[in-house]
Amino acid sequence: MAKPVLLVTRKLPDAIEARAAEEFDARLNPGDEPWHLDGAEIARRAAEARAEGILAAAGDALGAACIRALPDSVRIIATFSVGYDHIDLAAARERGIVVTNTPEVLSFATAECAFTLMLMAARRAGEGERLVRSGQWKGWAPTQLLGVTLERKRLGILGFGRIGRELAGMARALSMEIHYRDVRRLPDLEDGAIWHDSDAGFLGAIDVLSMHVPGGEGTRKWLNAERLRMMRKGAIVVNTGRGSSVDDEALIAALRSGHIRAAGLDVYDGEPRVNPGYLGLENVVLLPHLGSATEETRQAMGERCLENLGAVLLRGEAPPRAVR
Ligand code: DGY
Repeated sequence: MAKPVLLVTRKLPDAIEARAAEEFDARLNPGDEPWHLDGAEIARRAAEARAEGILAAAGDALGAACIRALPDSVRIIATFSVGYDHIDLAAARERGIVVTNTPEVLSFATAECAFTLMLMAARRAGEGERLVRSGQWKGWAPTQLLGVTLERKRLGILGFGRIGRELAGMARALSMEIHYRDVRRLPDLEDGAIWHDSDAGFLGAIDVLSMHVPGGEGTRKWLNAERLRMMRKGAIVVNTGRGSSVDDEALIAALRSGHIRAAGLDVYDGEPRVNPGYLGLENVVLLPHLGSATEETRQAMGERCLENLGAVLLRGEAPPRAVR
């Protein structure tokens, strides 16, 4: 029997591509050509190949117009990401296309990234690195690049899901006090963390804010000027969730005025575009969306995608990780 055709939008780890080619008639993108940024082109390629599945990734242009233009042959879109704000779920539902993602396997790696940013921002590691590379470093000095310790500081986790809870575990090793804000209290998962039922109570209580909320309209520009004012002077902001949840102009103003001491960002509104206001600021650490970027995690994410695709396309079963 012919293998189902699978359209793969991005270059994936070699072992994942090899397995995809073994199990499916995989149409790969070995050069990582950027056609995935054009929804019409995704639909055109899916139609040309008569694809039954699409192995997509974060940032692919899978909006309503693209999904409506997909050929009837497409039964599943498996995204190589936990986030699915790049996919119009309502349009997929209308077309009867199953959407799956890759939760769990990237929680630790993404928390590691948040932890890295939190430390880099507190200890001015970006500035220090730039100083050494510039050749301008004159040697140790008692008052050079003084940061703040995180020991015993209050960490506020916005979105106490798997990633937020992994970060809480790491922060406990620094004796940080954990606070969290979520739609509801999660008593069984708290492990001593303090829940807040209001933004003002939460933001006013913490020294570091780490954001772990999904993208989409519900969280758009959540961290705005009003909420930044609720934070203590000298607090730190970290975002490894989605860039759209930060009002960039408001955060840049708060970083300039010193109300916010420093920020560590891995995600950007409209990425790969980065608001130019961040680029000239010394007190912001900028990473290129590295949250899940470890060899182990990307391998595991690929396996999750193939499990989801295999269930639907090879065995006619419900996929293990469908997005609802
Ligand atoms: C995700 O999985 O949603 C990340 O942002 C990409 O690793």
